[in-house]
Amino acid sequence: MSRDGVLSSLLQGRGSWASGEEIAANLGVTRAAVWKQIRLLRASGYEIEASPGKGYRLVVQPDSLRPEAIYCGLGTEFVGKVIHYRPVVGSTNDVARKMARGAEEGTVILAEVQTEGRGRMGRRWQSPPGGVWMSVILKPDIPPALASRINIAVGLAVARTLSHLYGLEAGIKWPNDLTVRDKKICGILTEMRAEIDRLDYVVVGIGINANMDPDRLDVEGEITSISRELGGEISRTELVQKLLWDIEKAYIEVNSSFPKAHAEWSARSSTLGRRVRIVSQRNEFEGTAVELDRYGALRIRRDDGEIVRVLAGDCVHLRPAEKEEEEGASATSG
Ligand code: BTN
Repeated sequence: MSRDGVLSSLLQGRGSWASGEEIAANLGVTRAAVWKQIRLLRASGYEIEASPGKGYRLVVQPDSLRPEAIYCGLGTEFVGKVIHYRPVVGSTNDVARKMARGAEEGTVILAEVQTEGRGRMGRRWQSPPGGVWMSVILKPDIPPALASRINIAVGLAVARTLSHLYGLEAGIKWPNDLTVRDKKICGILTEMRAEIDRLDYVVVGIGINANMDPDRLDVEGEITSISRELGGEISRTELVQKLLWDIEKAYIEVNSSFPKAHAEWSARSSTLGRRVRIVSQRNEFEGTAVELDRYGALRIRRDDGEIVRVLAGDCVHLRPAEKEEEEGASATSG
């Protein structure tokens, strides 16, 4: 028997007493086996009270990404219904890609630590304890050309979660960084497998700097974390539950009412209206970001007036938006 069965029984009780006899009967094991699992749970940080007449009750649970804690109270239809948890993994995206074909849509892989976390453009993604390192397998019935809508959905979902749970108004920096006070708090790496006209699957990798000290990471550019912004640690269980819910909602929205999702993405964007430098594999140029098109490409007005469409690359924000540029932006996007 795994610890998970006993933990689920205690979590379902939401702090009330559950008799050892009942737990044992429900799980089809002996009371001695339940007691052994209680001791193991205590060793991994769960505070569980035991009383001869009443049984067991969970008093404090450690901040953890263990699936049983996340399932309990998760209100989604399909995202996160199956969660694979790994204390340590190379990259959750690699695990997800390996299992994607045979996996249920919405399957999630969560890790406490990644040893080979990957970022966009072949970069390394440092993933120490305290973060949320997660991949979601999605199987949208859309042409590959519209796959970037999944990116849009997940960026929106993270922004909504940070706003609703913590009051952090994160900007979406194209293509899909979430920033708070212009410092990166979350990165998203979307990978897919497709035929010419059909998507097999999309793996969305999400890295959130949750409970961690950003100064201890050796990365280029300014970064922050939720605990740094709030001045205290948060429950990652609650964060993941809310995020999975927001991902499911935004995923359905981009597929059913894209213009609405597009409008919200644009409103939350910290890139539109700004002077930017685009660095792609093919070239590098500057201009003003004017619009996100329906395929997720960024439209840039170069200094010579030409509008250039960029589907992938890095975007450096050069200076704050100017009124005149913003007006130009809405004229072009209309
Ligand atoms: C970026 O901003 O460059 C994207 C970073 C994406 C990091 C996440 S963490 C979970 C998943 N597994 C990975 O190896 N990468 C993504």
